[in-house]
Amino acid sequence: MISFNVPPCVGKESQYVGEAIQNHKICGDGEFTKRCNQWLEKKTGTAKALLTTSCTHATELAALLADIKPGDEVIMPSYTFVSTANAFVLRGAVPVFVDIRPDTMNIDETLIEDAITERTRAIVPVHYAGVGCEMDVICDIAKRHNLMIIEDAAQGIMATYKGKALGTFGDYGCYSFHETKNYSMGEGGALLINKSEAVERAEILREKGTNRSQFYRGQIDKYTWMDYGSSYLPSDINAAYLWAQLEMADEVNEYRLEIWKQYHNAFKGLEESGYIQRPVVPRECEHNAHMYYIKAGNLEIRTNLIQYLKDHNVNAVFHYIPLHNAPAGKEYGRFHGEDRYTTKESERLLRLPMYYGLREEEQQFVIKTVYNFFNEKLY
Ligand SMILES: Cc1ncc(COP(=O)(O)O)c(C=O)c1O
Repeated sequence: MISFNVPPCVGKESQYVGEAIQNHKICGDGEFTKRCNQWLEKKTGTAKALLTTSCTHATELAALLADIKPGDEVIMPSYTFVSTANAFVLRGAVPVFVDIRPDTMNIDETLIEDAITERTRAIVPVHYAGVGCEMDVICDIAKRHNLMIIEDAAQGIMATYKGKALGTFGDYGCYSFHETKNYSMGEGGALLINKSEAVERAEILREKGTNRSQFYRGQIDKYTWMDYGSSYLPSDINAAYLWAQLEMADEVNEYRLEIWKQYHNAFKGLEESGYIQRPVVPRECEHNAHMYYIKAGNLEIRTNLIQYLKDHNVNAVFHYIPLHNAPAGKEYGRFHGEDRYTTKESERLLRLPMYYGLREEEQQFVIKTVYNFFNEKLY
C-alpha cells in the first residue's frame, strides 16, 4: 500500500533524542527547544517563537493572549480543522464562518468586511495547503476595523506571501508539527508572537501563568504566579526530534516541491480534458508543497476515485467536513452569507500521497492509477 503520509524522519532524530536524554534535560525549554525557537525566529523574522504542544494549543494560547471573551465574534473559514474554531469557542466566543475562494480554498477576503459586527474581535485566516491567504486585503480590513489577526498557519511553515513568512502578518501565527506536517515532532506546534510587547505575557501564559521563563534566564531570583495560564510547552525530547528536521528544512522543502511539481505537470492533461481541477497558487504566494490535491467533478466521482485508488493499494484521503455542517459548528458558530463554495468544493477535493521519502516509482504509480480511473471511465 502506498501510504498517504509517512511522518518525516531525516536521519539525526535518534541521536538528538539520545542527547536530550543524556543531558538529563527532558522537560520543556531545554537546549533543543531553544534551538528550534531561534531557528523559527531567524527563518520567519517574528519577534518571538515559542514551541508548543500542538498548533491547537498555540491557537488556544493566542486566544488567551488576545483576551477573547464570551460573546466576542471571530471571523474564519468553515473549511478548516476543528481547532481553528475550538480555540475561540473555549473562550466563549462565536466563530463566524464566511465562504472560501474556490481557487485556493482559502477564506474569500472580499466577504470578510460584510461579516463584521460590533462584537467582532479578530480575523483568523487559514493558509490552506501552505498557500497564503490574500493578506494585503485582510491586514487592511483588520487595521480599518481595529481587529486582531491570528493566523492559522498550521500548514504554512516555509511558505510566504509577497516574500514574507506565513504566520508573521497577524498579531499571532500558529504552526503545527503534527506527524502529518512537513516537519514534525509527533505532536507539537509553535506560536509566533509578532509584536514584541506581547512576548512577556506569552511566556507567562505558556508556563502555567508563572514567570518561570524569566527565572530560568536568571532575570529574577524566584518565580511566582503572575496571571492565568496553562502548560503549553513540549518536552525537549520532542523538540530534539524536530530539530533534526529543521536543520534540513531546505532539503525537505525541495524534495516535497519536486513531488508537487511532478503531480502538477502530470495532471495537466486530465485538467485540460475537464476531468479534474488542479490547485491554484497565486503569483504572490510561494508554497511549501504541504499537500497535493485534485478536485474531481463531484462527491460521487471523488468517492469512487478514492475507492479505486484503495483497491490499487494507494491511500488517498479527503479533507475537512466544513465546520458549519458539523454538530458543534451548528451549536457554537454561524455562517455569514451564502455557502457558494465551502461545501461544494470540499466535497470534490482529494489529497494524494505526499511525504518526504515518497519514491519516484511510487508517485508514477499513483499518477498512472488516477489516469486509469478516468480512462476506463470508472466514475
Ligand atoms: C488548519 C489546521 N489548523 C490546526 C490544526 C491543528 O494542528 P495540531 O494537530 O498541531 O493541533 C491542523 C491540523 O491538521 C490544521 O490543518
